[in-house]
Amino acid sequence: MNELEIKLENERLKESWDCFPAEHLADYLAVNEQDQRINAQSILTRALLADTLWPKKFSGLINEELRFGIVMTWLYEKLKAGADRFKLLDELGGGRPKKGSEIPEAIRQTAAWLRGADCPIPNYVTDALMFLTPDQPGTLLFEPALNTFLNLWTSQLRGLSAEKISVLEIACGSGNEYRALDEFGLAAHINYSGFDIASKNIANATKNFPGVKFFEASILNSGLPDNSTDYIFLHDVLGHLSLEAMEIALKEIMRIVRKEAWLHCFNAADIPEHVNHPVELYHRNRLSISRLTESLRAAGAADVEAIPISAMLQNKFHFTQDYTASAVTFIVRKQP
Ligand SMILES: C[S@@+](CC[C@H](N)C(=O)[O-])C[C@H]1O[C@@H](n2cnc3c(N)ncnc32)[C@H](O)[C@@H]1O
Repeated sequence: MNELEIKLENERLKESWDCFPAEHLADYLAVNEQDQRINAQSILTRALLADTLWPKKFSGLINEELRFGIVMTWLYEKLKAGADRFKLLDELGGGRPKKGSEIPEAIRQTAAWLRGADCPIPNYVTDALMFLTPDQPGTLLFEPALNTFLNLWTSQLRGLSAEKISVLEIACGSGNEYRALDEFGLAAHINYSGFDIASKNIANATKNFPGVKFFEASILNSGLPDNSTDYIFLHDVLGHLSLEAMEIALKEIMRIVRKEAWLHCFNAADIPEHVNHPVELYHRNRLSISRLTESLRAAGAADVEAIPISAMLQNKFHFTQDYTASAVTFIVRKQP
């Protein structure tokens, strides 16, 4: 792509988000399955950061938080589909399985484990179903139950120290991932900065977190110096670029990062070629894991690990979630 083509693609991408009202951009990616407290890839970003700062110290907590994410998402989806919260509560609270019950074994087992007197984790299943705050409509999960792991992490991290690392979030939106890093107690241990192409997103993020470095830029020509950040992470942007622009973005990521990049994609698969899918001014492409890996290696990656989220959850918990069916996270280590 030449400079003019990059400029035009940037304009189309910017307009694709800046065309929405700022209030919509502020939280449309922080609710339901996308809620950073239960979304598998958001949990993974925090897990990767925690494991970088304190290697292997929190492996048990991370595993339990991933389980929490799929269980709470399952409960949320059941309630949304019209399930009766008190029937669910009865069955998951130790009542007899009902005839024709559709509760998966993994959910049942988690609920039974949480009921145990020696379980170290608060019983988030019962809490989520039993209560509602006065301002919550009937189908939702109880807010404090959604904060179960937020509370566990803040108490675990209190008083800990670590060597600070610089972390750049690309396509940070309105700062929803940052909000979670802040609330979980991780932001205090890193030098965070985030950029996004949409000015309304940056205005939202800056308004919510005035002291944090959020700025407007494009991953196609960020202008940031080589090796200027230790770690990069991004959620759900690569598939929105044209295939030509994505190749430029991958080179740019490998140029800016010093150690590792964690690239969360919403639609990737074991397919031989990327599938180009333009939609209005942007794209919803289906990415080929092998092609993306090849491009990253050509751009300077020493090692690329692709983690299909569904397979990871299935492997760990014998259960997965529909919304993760095409989600793949790439952990990319740069050549030293
Ligand atoms: C699906 S949203 C994801 C936002 C955020 N990562 C999250 O998960 O909450 C895609 C984001 O990518 C941003 N974006 C699109 N093209 C970009 C580019 N070339 N450089 C930087 N950000 C871009 C959009 O403005 C939007 O905020």
